[in-house]
Amino acid sequence: MTELVVRRLLIDLETPVRRHWCGGDAFRSAFFNALSMSFPVGEQFFIDSVRNGLKALPPAQQAAFQDEVQGFIGQEATHRRIHGLFNAHLEKQGLRNDWEARARDRLKLMEGLDPRHGLAITAANEHFTALFAEWMLRHTAWLDDTEPRLKTMWLWHSAEESEHKNTAFDLYKALGGSEAWRLKWMRRVTFIFLTDTLRQTVNNLRRDGTLLKWSTWTSAARFLLGQNGMLRVSYRPWRAWFQADFHPSQQHSTLSENWLRDNQAAYTRVGQPA
Ligand SMILES: [Fe+2]
Ligand SMILES: [Fe+2]
Repeated sequence: MTELVVRRLLIDLETPVRRHWCGGDAFRSAFFNALSMSFPVGEQFFIDSVRNGLKALPPAQQAAFQDEVQGFIGQEATHRRIHGLFNAHLEKQGLRNDWEARARDRLKLMEGLDPRHGLAITAANEHFTALFAEWMLRHTAWLDDTEPRLKTMWLWHSAEESEHKNTAFDLYKALGGSEAWRLKWMRRVTFIFLTDTLRQTVNNLRRDGTLLKWSTWTSAARFLLGQNGMLRVSYRPWRAWFQADFHPSQQHSTLSENWLRDNQAAYTRVGQPA
């Protein structure tokens, strides 16, 4: 079991956010904004899936997962809240979150299904967040020239994603989730996640008036496919999911531990004095 600490982030989210807050770069800002827009609805779904998964376990096994699930829910609930505050600034900039409505429609199809489906979808998404988190913590230069409060927000979220990457996966396994569905849901989640990210990023750029600028697309190419680029670096760890003996803990989380240790001034532990 992983011990998960719930942290309250000590950053100012009242001061307005610049349009190109990520290093003055239109593409990177639009891309991270798209991810942020998916979090309130997505992370609520992860919370519900993990909670339902816990309830479906026999009582003896529930006890073993209780604390970890509590920590997972606390962390994701905090992420939702913080990104909700951040997203409110995006709305004021004139950006529109279309991802959320699409996700809500899709989630209706999940009602009444075996809780292992929700868990497999959550575990697949958590694999994405964990490998992006690892990439972000390793290549923080992509956040250079970003206001410290926003840099802290993204790195804190990354560190906690890395920290709780086992929870949904372990619950899925504890409930006897099959390998076939684990792989099937990853293929579907990958398609949906990438197309939704692309659609929302393009939508953000269009509203920002920077969609057709040459500099936007050179930045996109560099950021996604260049040296230390997000997709380029993440492809291999993503593919590891398809190995028969895969477990999220095989992908190390030292960078997350280091960040949480070195940035204790940025948060308080919930339920404990600073
Ligand atoms: Fe999260
Ligand atoms: Fe997560």
